[in-house]
Amino acid sequence: MTTQPLVEPLPSQAAAEDDYFATNPQPAALQQHLSLARAFVARHAVEGRKVALVTSGGTTVPLENQTVRYIDNFSAGTRGATSAEYFLEAGYAVIFLHRQFSLLPYSRHYSHNTRSFLDFMREDESGRVVVDQEHQNEMQAVLRQYTEAKKQNTLLILTFVSITDYLWELREVAKVMQPLGPRALFYLAAAVSDFFVPRHRMVEHKIQSAEEFNQGLRYDQIPHAHRPAARVEGRSLVIDLEPVPKFLKQLVDGWAPQAMIVSFKLETDPSMLVNKAKYALGRYAHHLVIGNLLTTRKWEVVFVSPDGVKWVRVPRGKRTKSVSGIESLIGQASGEIDELDSATHRFVGEPAVEIESLIIPSIAEMHEKLMANAESGKQ
Ligand code: PMT
Repeated sequence: MTTQPLVEPLPSQAAAEDDYFATNPQPAALQQHLSLARAFVARHAVEGRKVALVTSGGTTVPLENQTVRYIDNFSAGTRGATSAEYFLEAGYAVIFLHRQFSLLPYSRHYSHNTRSFLDFMREDESGRVVVDQEHQNEMQAVLRQYTEAKKQNTLLILTFVSITDYLWELREVAKVMQPLGPRALFYLAAAVSDFFVPRHRMVEHKIQSAEEFNQGLRYDQIPHAHRPAARVEGRSLVIDLEPVPKFLKQLVDGWAPQAMIVSFKLETDPSMLVNKAKYALGRYAHHLVIGNLLTTRKWEVVFVSPDGVKWVRVPRGKRTKSVSGIESLIGQASGEIDELDSATHRFVGEPAVEIESLIIPSIAEMHEKLMANAESGKQ
């Protein structure tokens, strides 16, 4: 006698992927982005250059099809924009896939929210707008790097807004990068939503703030499965989010099987960071997970790779300032106590070091080894 299983088996990852892309439409700009990416990759492949795809910024979760309201996260894109500059400095061509209006390489130096770019300028005696003397050297250096990247055509900037845009772009650009083989590198610094509203459960128009404007619809009288995911019931906005399938496995095994893949793991609880990063490495079997804590991410990260666990820290006295960061928490996730009070040990005039200037050369070194292994495996 055959018995029916009580619970439907979980769809495989591949089926979840097919379903996601079949039911959540591609972004309008995708084809245009892909032709830019194809030309960019072809050019750098011919020149034998390594190409890094850097993802950056947060993904939105729209609640309506004609989107007025959405869920977002904290990411400003500092990690991605800063890292892109150091990848360029290390000789990579960079595809910078970022959340629209988040920070961009080079211009990020003058577009952060504590200081407007106008603060760096003044009018001279003749009324011409010039850069203030005290910022000349720094701005000249940034401008030169930016101009060089433009001249060499080593930086391609692509945008996304929603989680669905991001996943479409990531999958399709990864496929475009396949001919690069092991010379491709993925650096997944974007803060990707884990939950979303699927298209078939999204309302078309702006959610009304009061139930009386729902054209007589009483959602509490409709079966749960047929209610929109985001709706007003009584006086409350109710949102049922569904899990976004994890796409890292598909990236590693299917979309970019020869590339080096670096993912990030963000936590807020220091006691979880290393274990969660190890778990991600075990589960997705890629090359490197970079763990970081929300409060200390500008000064310390942990590299978790098949070679083990390695902490990367900006030395005390060379740490960049941060409004939201908590410097005293450095060392907590590794069980070390940062016994010196940083404020009293900051050396006046010592230039600040961005942690990405330590992260990227380390990754580039790992990437060289992987490429050499791939090359020797071929012989
Ligand atoms: O932009 P900043 O303000 O400078 O902040 C930088 C940062 C903290 C956002 C960055 O350093 C960082 O940690 N980014 C990754 C945050 C994140 O998405 O972590 P996660 O634990 O949710 O995901 C881990 C990995 O799984 C990510 O590489 C992500 O690409 C991947 N993922 C996530 C969700 C999903 N549905 N599928 C995935 O494959």
